[in-house]
Amino acid sequence: MPKVPAFHIFPSAKAASTALADEISQLIRSREAEERPTVLGLATGNTPIQLYAELVRLHEEGLSFRNVVTFNLDEYIGISRENPESYWQFMHSHLFDRIDIVPENIHIPESTVLSKNLESYCSSYERQITEAGGIDLQVLGIGRNGHIGFNEPGASPEVATHATELNSVTIDDAAQAFGGATHVPRRAITMGVKTILTARRITLLAFGTGKAGIVERALTPGITAKVPATYLQSHHDTTFFLDQEAGAQLA
Ligand code: GLP
Repeated sequence: MPKVPAFHIFPSAKAASTALADEISQLIRSREAEERPTVLGLATGNTPIQLYAELVRLHEEGLSFRNVVTFNLDEYIGISRENPESYWQFMHSHLFDRIDIVPENIHIPESTVLSKNLESYCSSYERQITEAGGIDLQVLGIGRNGHIGFNEPGASPEVATHATELNSVTIDDAAQAFGGATHVPRRAITMGVKTILTARRITLLAFGTGKAGIVERALTPGITAKVPATYLQSHHDTTFFLDQEAGAQLA
């Protein structure tokens, strides 16, 4: 039965990020008490930066990530890890270099897989998620066009990790960071909607006026491939963490 995700509107992006960081730290601590690892699905973009800063702060106060396994949602194809815009760089500079995570427990899709190997690479990424026990908690952002990860409008809910073409809205949104739209990679590897929906819990962060319209659409009953975030309506435990601006169009 479709179920529109729960949402919380916080006074600020910082407050929303702190609330999610607290939920993640409680999850890590409770699973550690059971001597089980925590498997997190992680996102990039401007939106989760404050979440990662808060997790780093909690680490400085004693939260350990040595029992945490991570899987990133996506990565551009065709740029090197060293490229400042690679998600590999983003994750290491904002989070991984600043916590005690075991490097072998970090999984980020490879940006340099040869075309002929993409399919088997994507299957192996999916297999690693399964072998780790599946994702306990997935962090998502949302694109202005309703994408989650790089599952662009038109994405099927049946597809797992795969290589995909970027949508024109996504390319425009990334243009500034890459110094112009022509420099933005055209392709990416992304967990599929199918992968995302297997997470036991899903949390989506959205901040600012620019996300208000798409957040309202994602939370309006009705699942459509035109707005991939509406697929979250078929998940049993999803919560949107919003600031006032992103939640402004919700009743
Ligand atoms: C990129 C990422 C998405 C992210 C989105 C929103 O396209 N692939 O995972 O959610 O951007 O980015 P931002 O948080 O900067 O608005």
